[in-house]
Amino acid sequence: MTPHDQSGLDWRGSVPVSRRFDDPFFSLAGGLAETRHVFLAGNDLPARLVPGFHVTETGFGTGLNLLALAQVATVPVRFTSFEAYPLTVADLARAHGAFPELADLSAQLRAGWGGETLSVGHVTARIVQGDARETLPAWDGVADAWFLDGFSPARNPELWSDALMAAVGAHTAAGGSFATYTAAGHVRRALAAAGFAVTRAPGFAGKRHMTRGIRP
Ligand SMILES: C[S@@+](CC[C@H](N)C(=O)[O-])C[C@H]1O[C@@H](n2cnc3c(N)ncnc32)[C@H](O)[C@@H]1O
Repeated sequence: MTPHDQSGLDWRGSVPVSRRFDDPFFSLAGGLAETRHVFLAGNDLPARLVPGFHVTETGFGTGLNLLALAQVATVPVRFTSFEAYPLTVADLARAHGAFPELADLSAQLRAGWGGETLSVGHVTARIVQGDARETLPAWDGVADAWFLDGFSPARNPELWSDALMAAVGAHTAAGGSFATYTAAGHVRRALAAAGFAVTRAPGFAGKRHMTRGIRP
């Protein structure tokens, strides 16, 4: 293990930890299980997937959420993720190494990394590079389900601001949903103000709550 490489990451075992935000990219208690619990089940996926369904994400990180979605998608779906600080392909490979059951899918992700779109299983993915505070409000798409996956609101407040949550709501189809691991009160209130019916659900791995919602 290289505790202090040049890429802005530290590693706790196979989990990358951002130096910029001083936070791990996914749960130390099991990233893939967390993704399935919070982001897939929290959005009632894969049950809602139909051809053309559009999943959208704040914070692409290692792409683990995309990979977990691709693992369960049996019809062609779209995925758009907003990311300001893309990882290198070497860091992606190191993080993906912890998930051998996703090896084929993660190889597809890395093979397309840097291109305009990525094909991973049945998912066609686009990474919108830049600060989501600018790129998300300017985006011309509409989401059916959001994975809200910034670093913790205390450490990465710019990805959870009232204005950004309002933009999330404005870019959500009627009947669309969001899910996030955080239960922070100001995030829940911002999402309610953005037009979502917001509920709390049991969190992952000892966290009391997570948050999910539907836009009527
Ligand atoms: C918790 S990580 C995402 C984990 C990721 N979903 C995964 O599966 O590995 C949060 C991500 O948000 C990104 N981020 C932080 N602030 C941002 C901003 N203002 N705009 C866009 N992306 C941002 C970070 O670079 C990081 O990749």
